[in-house]
Amino acid sequence: MPVVSLQQLLHHAQQSHYAVGYFEAWDLYSLEAVLHAAEALRSPAILGFGAAVTEERWYDQHGVEAMSGLARTLAQRSSVPTAVLFNEAQNFAQAVRGLAAGCNAVMLESTHFSEEEHLTATQQLTRVAHSLGAAVEAEVGHLANATDPTLHAVPTDPAAAARFVAATGVDALAVSIGNVHLLAQGEATIDLERLDRLHRAVSVPLVIHGGTGFPRSAVSDAIRLGVAKFNVGTVLKQVFCDAVVAALGRPAGIHERMGSRTAPDILFAGQEAMQRKIEELIETYGSIGWATHW
Ligand code: 13P
Repeated sequence: MPVVSLQQLLHHAQQSHYAVGYFEAWDLYSLEAVLHAAEALRSPAILGFGAAVTEERWYDQHGVEAMSGLARTLAQRSSVPTAVLFNEAQNFAQAVRGLAAGCNAVMLESTHFSEEEHLTATQQLTRVAHSLGAAVEAEVGHLANATDPTLHAVPTDPAAAARFVAATGVDALAVSIGNVHLLAQGEATIDLERLDRLHRAVSVPLVIHGGTGFPRSAVSDAIRLGVAKFNVGTVLKQVFCDAVVAALGRPAGIHERMGSRTAPDILFAGQEAMQRKIEELIETYGSIGWATHW
């Protein structure tokens, strides 16, 4: 199955009333967990990595190319339709390098931009991405962040969102409707009325960041109101870490424990736990079986 564009993937999801999970990976084990889950359930996939919670210097040095190469390699061998996303690139150069290194979708972090800077940077990025056949996701408004009380939510204004999409030509829009980034415990309170107004105002597929704390009970309404992609990060690292800790407590030789890719491999145990959590979420988002419709 060739790598598919994020535009195609999300349009199909929006029209067919399901959502595709973007399950954020950070290394080869976690990328494989995403792919194995999608292939097991015959779901379309978005393979990718994000820069928001990783040392910026590492990505600037060689992380962008290293992670893009891994994700692209897996996507090319995938048996389900797969897009390759570089999420929340921390600067414009990183975003462009991700596209050059094999990602076919990119999002640029915008929390530190003024409105004017955000508009200009997104216009420029969209020009570059579209000339390469790649997609751009952007956010209007901002999410609260559970790990940083100084970051307050700015709910997405429907009229501003419509103007931004028209002025930039972005392919997907991340919205702030009560969803919270990095919420490890509890659930966010979601404003579905705002989502309804956003859906009427904006024609591109809508994206929910902060998938970990997004209430399961609001998922089907969100999909009905135009959400085609959920971003999930925190809970995947939690289950991965718990499985690594449990595996460390079991006796094993060092070569079995590190890098063997058999049961005693502590990272392999993390990968399997992450895969199971992703399978649960794929079911919640309703994307099971849709790979065969491509
Ligand atoms: P969570 O870590 O809150 O699930 O959010 C991840 C995310 O939105 C990545 O873009």
